[in-house]
Amino acid sequence: MTESSKRKPSETAEAAKTAEATPDTDATATAEPAGTTSDATSAEAAASATTSDATATAGGVTAPAAAGKAATGKAEATPGAAPRPAPSRRALLGWGGAGLALGAAAAGGTAAALRVGDDASPSASTGDAVPFHGAHQAGISTPVQDRLHFASFDVTTTDRAALIKLLQEWTAAAAAMTAGHEVGAGAISANEELPPDDTGEALGLKPSRLTLTFGVGPGLFEKDGKDRFGLKARRPQALIDLPVFPKDNLDPARSGGDLCVQACADDPQVAVHAIRNLARIGMGRVAIRWSQLGFGKTSSTTPDAQTPRNMMGFKDGTRNIAGDDTARLDKHVWVGEKDGPDWMVGGSYLVARRIRMHIETWDRTSLAEQEDVFGRDKSEGAPVGKQREHDEPLLKAMKPDAHVRLAHPDSNNGVTILRRGYSFTDGTDGLGRLDAGLFFIAYQRDVRDGFVPLQTNLARNDALNEYIQHVGSAVFAVPPGVRDKGDWWGKTLFA
Ligand code: HEM
Repeated sequence: MTESSKRKPSETAEAAKTAEATPDTDATATAEPAGTTSDATSAEAAASATTSDATATAGGVTAPAAAGKAATGKAEATPGAAPRPAPSRRALLGWGGAGLALGAAAAGGTAAALRVGDDASPSASTGDAVPFHGAHQAGISTPVQDRLHFASFDVTTTDRAALIKLLQEWTAAAAAMTAGHEVGAGAISANEELPPDDTGEALGLKPSRLTLTFGVGPGLFEKDGKDRFGLKARRPQALIDLPVFPKDNLDPARSGGDLCVQACADDPQVAVHAIRNLARIGMGRVAIRWSQLGFGKTSSTTPDAQTPRNMMGFKDGTRNIAGDDTARLDKHVWVGEKDGPDWMVGGSYLVARRIRMHIETWDRTSLAEQEDVFGRDKSEGAPVGKQREHDEPLLKAMKPDAHVRLAHPDSNNGVTILRRGYSFTDGTDGLGRLDAGLFFIAYQRDVRDGFVPLQTNLARNDALNEYIQHVGSAVFAVPPGVRDKGDWWGKTLFA
């Protein structure tokens, strides 16, 4: 054990006291379904078994195809959104309108991308498209992709109509990009005197399961005492300003924001392209406040898949909410009709925390100490005293300040969140230390019953605190899904 890894007696005593006070039970009494089987694997298998690699063209336009499309026979076309010329597998039923639509968009201006076709088939294969339209936004309970580009924006316009127009343009572009299409008239537009509508770096790339998840921050409702957009009265009570937690060391330049877009994809270039193009469309109306790239998902919503490992080398996401567990999603993630406000029903609340890891200290810590910190073994991911990763944890067998013991619902009056974080490494900090850690993302039905009590407990007592520091923080209300082509991000809020 290194000097820095030793826990101070006072902290240990405090942790033990807290642990005693919490209703720790043998986890066999917990009604948590372990390892429910997801449809993802079978969907993936089905998709790869039934699709071909043919590239098809119509009206002089090369249409990228999502795996699984050919199998379903569904097709999608996005008027005004040029398809990316990828050597992929989209069926072309209904595509005939795209050429016309392209012409219309070129004549009518930028980003007039509206989909007329069906959404892509649900899938888990890395090249596929994930449906954009639905009751909930994609990117929450849908299978977690490998890469992240998260952007937080300040709204710079004070014109409500301009903001609404932006959200409509963003939605159209998001629908196009998630389906594997280019934005607007595309990267190679007819008028070479103008900058193209699409920046072009995703040309030839597959949809890569890109999801774009949109949220609104507290600053949209009120900023510096001003109700800029007439929305103050519509601020959800659950969208609180997060309290300051013990040991927080937050950088304002990496915190907050009026709007956010979480871009997740299996190809980093597809995620970066999406954020870049949304920022480009938003120029003059919004400005990126901060952004975060992430790799190596640190959670899973598909428990049958291999659990990913975080930068500390431990499996992370073992006991997350499964994407097909509708009962737990309804209970812990989606805003219900009785929760209010109406415009948030079907939405969720997102907490993002940039958590830096003291990697060098961790790397000098013994394996035994590392395993004590989490309460799980490093190899299998099994809880203390158990054999397999998905065995029910016996909390009392863990040290009182073990992360898993403290984060478990039984130690927090049942508090349960959906985690969807990513690892990050942003170079070094000038002292030769890696600027690396976990970009923690959690979704919940109410922040006050989710992240806040959980983090209050962890910030006070968690053995992991020796090795981490929270350096960025933001909270957003994530509205329900975009229902159809007439709907747009935030429509229910501005209605
Ligand atoms: C760098 C910071 C963190 C690391 C490295 C980390 C790592 C882990 C690991 C390895 C597990 C065990 C596997 C699993 O069930 O997923 C776990 C579980 C968990 N963590 Fe974290 N975590 C971090 C921060 C947080 C934060 C900030 C929260 C919430 C405020 C949190 C909430 C949870 C929850 C709810 C569980 C599942 C507990 C259970 O039901 O057994 N973690 N974490």
